[in-house]
Amino acid sequence: MLKLAVLVSGGGTNLQAILDAIDRGDIKNARVEVVISNNRDAFALERAKKHNIEAQCVSPRDYDDRGAFHLALLKTLDSYDVDLVVLAGFLVVIPQEMIDKYRNRIINIHPSLIPSFCGTGYYGLKVHEGVLARGVRVTGATVHFVDEGTDTGPIILQKAVEVHNGDTPEILQRRVMEQAEWVILPRAIDLIANDKVSVEEGRVVIA
Ligand code: GRF
Repeated sequence: MLKLAVLVSGGGTNLQAILDAIDRGDIKNARVEVVISNNRDAFALERAKKHNIEAQCVSPRDYDDRGAFHLALLKTLDSYDVDLVVLAGFLVVIPQEMIDKYRNRIINIHPSLIPSFCGTGYYGLKVHEGVLARGVRVTGATVHFVDEGTDTGPIILQKAVEVHNGDTPEILQRRVMEQAEWVILPRAIDLIANDKVSVEEGRVVIA
């Protein structure tokens, strides 16, 4: 049984997709042990509580400096002894000590087809604003392992989504979430939970 920690900052629709997929049996051999947010107002915490899952808030506001916050975040995560950390709309830069301790055991969902529209400054609606400004006809979402860079770790799954005439960033974000994020994040977790994913020479191999 793969024990998961899901880290969130906002509405938690990706968390909900994971919980629903577990309940439907689309994710096998995995269980969410804890949901951790940096934002005490994150609705994702309500979703966890409704599902009788431990919900923890580790807010930077409660610590004197960034280092103390990082330490508290890592201590809280470590206390649950999980196998995989899932960043589901988590807007905190992952500290190096966490990357080191959970090497190839942290995954992230990014709302574009990496390497397009990713990296510093590309998060949330800003991604879709960039897509519309560039005029690309296809966008999508990516699940990848987290490494030292921003959106640079080995890619696990991607799914393409069409851009429509008249799309606003909000309409496009919703389509990317519905058609891509909420599909490939649960699928990636199921693959990992059933030993179908390995990383060879920096690239993901799916059995
Ligand atoms: C999603 O757009 C996701 O791609 C991005 O942050 C947003 C979080 O959405 N990483 P939610 O909190 O899962 O609803």
